[in-house]
Amino acid sequence: MPSNLSTLTLSCIGAGRLGKTLCRLFSDTVSIGQIINSSTASAQLAAGFIGAGQGQGDYAELQPADIWLIATPDDSIQLASEALKNAGVLRKGDTVFHCSGSLSAEVLGLDNCPTASVHPIHSFADPEKSIKRFAGTACGIEGDPDAVALLDTLFRHIGAEPFAIASEHKSLYHAATVLTCNYLVSLLELGKQMLTAAGVETNNQTGASNPLEPLIRQTVDNYLSTDAVSALTGPIARGDSRTIEAHLRALQNQPDLWQQVYCALGNATVPISAKQGQASADDLHSISALLQSDRK
Ligand SMILES: NC(=O)c1ccc[n+]([C@@H]2O[C@H](COP(=O)([O-])OP(=O)(O)OC[C@H]3O[C@@H](n4cnc5c(N)ncnc54)[C@H](OP(=O)(O)O)[C@@H]3O)[C@@H](O)[C@H]2O)c1
Repeated sequence: MPSNLSTLTLSCIGAGRLGKTLCRLFSDTVSIGQIINSSTASAQLAAGFIGAGQGQGDYAELQPADIWLIATPDDSIQLASEALKNAGVLRKGDTVFHCSGSLSAEVLGLDNCPTASVHPIHSFADPEKSIKRFAGTACGIEGDPDAVALLDTLFRHIGAEPFAIASEHKSLYHAATVLTCNYLVSLLELGKQMLTAAGVETNNQTGASNPLEPLIRQTVDNYLSTDAVSALTGPIARGDSRTIEAHLRALQNQPDLWQQVYCALGNATVPISAKQGQASADDLHSISALLQSDRK
């Protein structure tokens, strides 16, 4: 591995939200070579955002580079890697990596180059904001040792905190990030829909704030600053089985999904309450029975 990153060139295939953000951050450490997107116009816009590199729209125009980032949508990574291989610019030992959360480096299918995947646990919805907020981002990394060593160093230069993830566990690891990030949004939205059904005004667009907001912030803050056992409050923590029974009755005339989610998450809450020790074993047993019974 070269000791001086500044002598290296990095080119990017797929400079969208993640690709152009990382390239701009990398541009202080390595030289940015070429940017290739589906269209030349899009690649040139991305190069403008990065402030370095030449935007291209055709693999035939590619030049050699020491590091290749393939940041196309997941479903196109394999094809992009194949197109890169067929372009004839890859040299033995060039590093190729992608940033998918669920795919391993194997998908790149390159025998003569060290390959890796580096998945930043970060939402790149707004690249300008991501530039400012990227420092401190944890990144799951796996692949060939040489690629992992080089990319670990490169990502630490832009403030990331890489950690090793086993290749065979990438899908489970990614499912965890989806559950925690994307599905948390869905859970908050279901809670808001239930409040609306209960006649509570929750429409932000009319200026009314979501009355759950302070509770959401306190709960996430308590969980992050302590742990699940310390953060859990509410009827399952207290062992109030009659309250749970009343909730299930209220949910009977509502969409099936609400009761399914309520029961699934209630089942996940019982063992946390058991560890906390406030509710009796009998109460928790009754609550489990209620949550598992098919009430529809
Ligand atoms: N976005 C996130 O928050 C996030 C977080 C972690 C990991 N990731 C991973 O990062 C990767 C990119 O995601 P993204 O959200 O940045 O995607 P994106 O915003 O949709 O950008 C994809 C880019 O790839 C280009 N592209 C598509 N097919 C191509 C091809 N065959 N050859 C060359 N360029 C091609 C597109 O070009 P055009 O502009 O011309 O259409 C676009 O610029 C994915 O592997 C994703 O799993 C994303």
